[in-house]
Amino acid sequence: MNFEQIILYYFSGTGNARNAAHWFMQVAEEKQLKTRLINIDRFDQIEIPDTGKKTLIGFCSPTHGFNFPPIMLKFILKFPRLKNADVFIMNTRGGLKLSKLFLPGVSGIAQLLPALILLLKSYKIVGMQPLDLPSNWIFLHPGLKAKVVDSITQRIKKITKKFATNLLEGKRKYKALLSLPIDLAMIPIAFGYYFIGRFYLAKSLVASSNCNSCMKCINECPVEAIKLKKQLFWSYKCESCMRCLNNCPKQAIQVAHSFSIGLLLINFLILMPAIMFLFNDLGFDKSGNPLWLMIILRISKWIVFISFVFLSYRMLNYLMRFKWINKMVEFTSFSKYKFWRRYKAPHY
Ligand SMILES: Cc1cc2nc3c(=O)[nH]c(=O)nc-3n(C[C@H](O)[C@H](O)[C@H](O)COP(=O)(O)O)c2cc1C
Repeated sequence: MNFEQIILYYFSGTGNARNAAHWFMQVAEEKQLKTRLINIDRFDQIEIPDTGKKTLIGFCSPTHGFNFPPIMLKFILKFPRLKNADVFIMNTRGGLKLSKLFLPGVSGIAQLLPALILLLKSYKIVGMQPLDLPSNWIFLHPGLKAKVVDSITQRIKKITKKFATNLLEGKRKYKALLSLPIDLAMIPIAFGYYFIGRFYLAKSLVASSNCNSCMKCINECPVEAIKLKKQLFWSYKCESCMRCLNNCPKQAIQVAHSFSIGLLLINFLILMPAIMFLFNDLGFDKSGNPLWLMIILRISKWIVFISFVFLSYRMLNYLMRFKWINKMVEFTSFSKYKFWRRYKAPHY
């Protein structure tokens, strides 16, 4: 297929997917093709351009919780149907480097689910490429050192350009399918993250007393999840994309590590054993009970956990207005300290 136009939609929290989208388009521009690069932040305002027969459409997004983030999935779900139009998918993942070894991230269903949705919409998928750019998952680990970031990024830039060259020459490339067994095994975790985990993470961000209400994070949030009342708080719409945390000029946004870890410990060491004890006492949790009863018990444990987390975060939002509690949460957050670093993709 000789393409005349490339339209590439991208979402990016900290710049990796934006870089990858740019690299792809650089190849298209070198081939004198018409290009349109569209950032889908707050996508209600986006107009989908007309596509002719010789248009290649692409979607590029980070991987969040072994899946595409909700903003990109919703965008693809709303995307108009086009029979037999050629599409490709690029997912940036959290790559690491150990000595000289480049370690890949894990896609889970970040390629498979959007591919399925697009197939159901009658699109023809011509390329599926994972891109292992530096991990930005600052909740879990410190940001990578500049040298490592540079080395990982340069490597993936070449891979992205090669992928683009292949697609634009009419070849089909499905590198994403190489890790299919691992990705399929991640399905339960991907759904667990989508329906539960992401809400837990969404509320783990807090503003320390260094915040001067400059509104940068509110204005830049791709899903308008950050609100200012007495102080900043993150609603459950938050995608944990890490943009606000990494762009804050005052470095005032922190991950409430001690609080979030404390919640998990209280839940698993006190709350869950207490419920099990109660169920046992009532004679419910013993073997020999019908399956439906066991399922109800399991669901009720999850409901207790979720309610506990929701209430605790609500309480945290309220308590953050007291200066000494705010300081305590700030100083027990790893992200407060220099060694934890932050992550913002370099402009290439
Ligand atoms: C909340 C969250 C969840 C993530 N989940 C995954 C994951 O499941 N697999 C993975 O390989 N990387 C994961 N990552 C890492 C990012 O996908 C990766 O760093 C990506 O390149 C970031 O792209 P961006 O800079 O365009 O936002 C996650 C990052 C965040 C913040």
